[in-house]
Amino acid sequence: MLSGKHVVLGVTGGIAAYKACEVVSRLRKLHAEVDVIMTQNATRLVQPLTFETLSNRPVCVDTFARVESWDVKHISLAQKADIMVVAPATANLMAKLAHGIADDMLSTTLLATKAPILIAPAMNTGMWTAAATQQNLQTLISRGVKTVGPGSGFLACGDTGSGRMSEPVEIVEAIQSILCPKRDMEGLRVLVTAGPTVERIDPVRYLTNDSSGKMGYALAEAAHQRGAQVTLVSGPVHIAAPNGVEVVPVTSTASLYECMMERCEQQDIIIQAAAPADYRVEHIAEQKIKKQSGEPFVLTLVENPDVARAVGQRKQPGQVLVGFAAETQNVMCNAQDKLQKKNLDLMVANDVTAEGAGFGVDTNIVTLITRDGATPLPKMSKREVAEHILDKALTLRS
Ligand code: CTP
Repeated sequence: MLSGKHVVLGVTGGIAAYKACEVVSRLRKLHAEVDVIMTQNATRLVQPLTFETLSNRPVCVDTFARVESWDVKHISLAQKADIMVVAPATANLMAKLAHGIADDMLSTTLLATKAPILIAPAMNTGMWTAAATQQNLQTLISRGVKTVGPGSGFLACGDTGSGRMSEPVEIVEAIQSILCPKRDMEGLRVLVTAGPTVERIDPVRYLTNDSSGKMGYALAEAAHQRGAQVTLVSGPVHIAAPNGVEVVPVTSTASLYECMMERCEQQDIIIQAAAPADYRVEHIAEQKIKKQSGEPFVLTLVENPDVARAVGQRKQPGQVLVGFAAETQNVMCNAQDKLQKKNLDLMVANDVTAEGAGFGVDTNIVTLITRDGATPLPKMSKREVAEHILDKALTLRS
């Protein structure tokens, strides 16, 4: 139920605008207050009267004349909103939001609001995959804008591909999860590993990898918000720790191993999103290594312990173990193989070479692999991926 919650729904001029009517209707049935702001183009597709009837409120259309006759100033909607939702969100709206353009009622209200923003993109596949749209999407996600969809399927333009707006029921679920976050992990101890490890060569040099830690930090934050007691074992990263989470810093794979051996048996769910180095330097030089001109420089590396495998060997009854497989080829095969070898219950596989997936970026494209099968997920923010992983881990526990 959404009693007492105020949703401001922006409707832009995409053919999916008609589905926004069902979003309003569902929100009203959950007792939310709904105000609708339409762009001028949206009014060509659906009559404002339809939204006025469904929301039982005047619809704010993109003309200032109309607003003057209304009893509140347009900015007040930005202040009153508990959430602003744009469904459908066209490529044009996303571009305006990413660049702070406020040239109509909807974009002005979006720029002014401090409320969380959720967008449900809907457009032709070519427009969705265009570099400009994808870059705008990254910008929006990095500023905390939430997304739902788009999914794939038959599009109004006759194409089949990604760009199809999420169904109204999914949009309403996304709104509920933001306004009334789930507390389904209360009483659970969750340990997440994140980031790279670093392997010293000498006092000024080291070996490491591209892991940013974003996926693990998103997981830790999501599990904490769902009520879990979270320990985040983190390699060196450049992101702030989520509030309320215990952070245990580690550097090398050996220190990660030691930390995990101390803690793994007391956890209910362990999610290993870290990218531990597989090798370390055999002899760390005590002094800075001097250049030897003309000679090839040979560094001898020795194998590090496989932390996930060691955790898998110590798996406790009822415990759920989750691993990540960041691959550049044969993604599914390699991931399934690792699931078995490391005694995991769930493997999150991704092709790190795909655009919008893997290291550094705020989105990810993953497939959730269990012993029973594989579930591919569309491209979504790392936070949304985190929610899906936690949902799956909870299902595996039961
Ligand atoms: N992992 C680990 N210890 C290592 C290497 C990896 O615990 N020394 C964990 C990672 O945290 C991840 C999973 O194992 O959850 C898979 O990591 P990945 O690097 O994809 O697999 P590897 O076993 O190292 O195999 P390869 O590098 O040959 O692909």
